[in-house]
Amino acid sequence: MKTLIANFKMNMTPTQTKDYLITFLSRVDSEKLDLTLCLPYTSLFIGDFWCADKNIRLGAQNLSDEEEGRNTGEISGAMLKDSGVDYVIVGHSERRKRFKEDGKSINRKIKIGLKNGLGLILCVGESLAERNTLKTYEVLKEQIESALKGLYENELERIIIAYEPVWAVGSGKTPSPKEIEEAVKEIKKVVCDDFSLGASESIRIVYGGSVDSKNIKQLNSCKNINGFLIGQACLDPNEFLKICSLVR
Ligand code: 13P
Repeated sequence: MKTLIANFKMNMTPTQTKDYLITFLSRVDSEKLDLTLCLPYTSLFIGDFWCADKNIRLGAQNLSDEEEGRNTGEISGAMLKDSGVDYVIVGHSERRKRFKEDGKSINRKIKIGLKNGLGLILCVGESLAERNTLKTYEVLKEQIESALKGLYENELERIIIAYEPVWAVGSGKTPSPKEIEEAVKEIKKVVCDDFSLGASESIRIVYGGSVDSKNIKQLNSCKNINGFLIGQACLDPNEFLKICSLVR
């Protein structure tokens, strides 16, 4: 069963989310997909209410790297769990760049997420300059090793790695299936070296970056990926429904 994760980013008020979900949920065949909707914090209660009896997971887009206390404006792992959240995105390139999130902070977020019973979607990926200077493997290795430092192998069951090349996010450009396969191989090599062959075989990996209904079939030909992380294309329920029907 394919995994599809929608990242709504900073889009949709709670009212708009409700309207979206009414349309989307009335037409999606959620039994045939492993679907997670990563909504803005302010829409989580709407998502929890409307997705409650559906086979759809609720996701958030970030969590604090502290457990609680004096962190004005931050949201904790415990708050997310109690809001019905199942999965949370960490290490998105937009946050690494804009908010200077580093490997240490991402590692703390992952540990706090795990402690609170959440699953984590860890985003990794190289910039165009890094790709052009043949640093993709080095970047992926550093991002994965710093994020997963100190984790037990059995905790990887609750981690999904999202390969999101920075240059593909929001650009309309995508790597070829062959390039994705190569990156997946590199990700698995890091997991194999740091954990075990078994862990590298079972770790779930999705691709993200300019996925839409036009390229989904081609991208879906990659054998080693478990699914997709989708940004812009999930904001239109009709476009997202089309992707859902094409990906199965
Ligand atoms: P786009 O699909 O808009 O390129 O965004 C991808 C993404 O960042 C998902 O997390």
